[in-house]
Parts: sequence; structure tokens; C-alpha cells
Amino acid sequence: MARRKKIYEGKAKTLYEGPEPGTIVQYFKDDATAFNAEKHDVIEGKGVLNNILSEFFMLGLGQIGVPTHFLKRLNMREQLVRSCEIIPLEVIVRNYAAGSLCKRLGLEEGAQLPRPIVEYCYKDDALGDPLVTEEHIAAFGWASQQDMDDILSLALRVNDFMSGVMLAVGIRLVDFKIEIGRIYDGDFQRLVIADEISPDSCRLWDIKTGQKLDKDVFRRDLGSLTDAYTEVARRLGVMPNNPPAPGKPQLVN
Ligand code: TMP
Repeated sequence: MARRKKIYEGKAKTLYEGPEPGTIVQYFKDDATAFNAEKHDVIEGKGVLNNILSEFFMLGLGQIGVPTHFLKRLNMREQLVRSCEIIPLEVIVRNYAAGSLCKRLGLEEGAQLPRPIVEYCYKDDALGDPLVTEEHIAAFGWASQQDMDDILSLALRVNDFMSGVMLAVGIRLVDFKIEIGRIYDGDFQRLVIADEISPDSCRLWDIKTGQKLDKDVFRRDLGSLTDAYTEVARRLGVMPNNPPAPGKPQLVN
């Protein structure tokens, strides 16, 4: 079988050329990084869980008419997605104060915000993904005013959907990050939710206990990351058939 072409390797995923033009295979690695990759570990089973959870969220968004790049899951670690041009912004939506917002504004972690707050960071690892305003985005041409209107509306729809889905299983969606892609269709372009939506890119807290069920478990050394992600998958009813068993010997066929 011919070796497939690697297009890009990121911190948590690798992208390969897909079987049809305009498609990409997105492979979920077990690598976990934080603080701009200063902290790194390999957490067995994380990629499998994120692949399945991202599929679940992207399919749900598709069902309510929010366009995404997702086409289908191929196997435990890979999904087929539409190839798109990623807008160089991290779009963050916050419902409760946490993380960098607390540091920046001195807010108490967990305080409910008066309304969802949308922030934009410029995607540049060397600069540490700095916070930018719509002025920077317009002036440097990263997105047009029409794009920004569409991005805001997409981000808020994702927030409503994700908040509701998580609330139904006793989890609070504190905040999340999404990335937006452009797909060109002749002279036209449309924007889609791209990359992934998973506990790597959200803050998820158990409503009753406040237990963290997201990547903060890794960032802050709060216990087993796979246990946390497995709990999210279990509550949503999307546990993979062969749940990862970290630490146990693996049989190789
Ligand atoms: P922050 O509070 O650190 O700015 O993070 C806000 C949200 O964005 C949180 O849900 C975690 C997510 N996030 C990413 O997905 N990737 C990143 O590189 C960072 C810094 C945050």
C-alpha cells in the first residue's frame, strides 16, 4: 500500500492527504501539551477519546445546521474531514470565569459571567497565541467584517449547543475554543467549524462536585486525564468499545 502524504503535524493531531481531493485524514495523537508545549506528556488513550468526542459534537452541530468540516470517522484514531483554510484565530467563548480571564481581570474562578464573552487570539505559537481585538483582525486582513459577523454567530450557536448537551449530563461548559475554516466553492466561500471540539479545547466541570473533566486535569496535575475524558464520554453515551486501559499490558496481534 502506498504511504500517505503527511500534510501537517501539530501538537495533538497529524493531518494526512485524504482519499479524495478536498479531503484530509485527521489523526488524533496521544500527546498532551500545555503552556505552549512547555509541558508535554503522552497519555495513552487520549487520542481515541478525543476522536470519538469530537465526532459526537461535530455530528450534533451538523444536525442543528451548524456547518463543520467533519465528514466521517474512519477508525478509533482517525476521521475524514473537508480540507479548509484555517483562519488564524482561536475563537474562545466563556460562560464562567476561568483560566487566562481570571489572571487578566482578577476574577474569581467559577464566577458566572453576565453573558457569554467571545475573545479572539492570534494563532501563533512563537508569540504564545496573543489576545487580539477585531481592530487587529480587520487591519491585518485575517478576516473580513462579514467573516467576523459569521464567526460570532457560529461561536454563539456552538456555545448554546455545547452548553445544552453538557448540562443534560450534569456538566457545566465553562469555556471553549474553536477554530474556523474557509471552504471555497467557485467564487464563494463558506465558513465551517474546523479542527476539533473535545475536552482538550473546553473547560468542563461536574455541576454537583465542581470536578474538572478537561485538560486542566493535565495542566494542573489533578489526576488521570483519561479517567476525566472517559467520564465525559461515558455520560454522553459514546464510550469506545475498547476503552483505553492505561498502564495495563497491551496485546499486539
Ligand atoms: P484560557 O483561559 O487559557 O485562555 O483558555 C480558554 C479556553 O480555550 C479553554 O477552554 C481552553 C482552550 N484553549 C485551547 O483550546 N488551546 C489553547 O492553546 C489555550 C491556551 C486554551
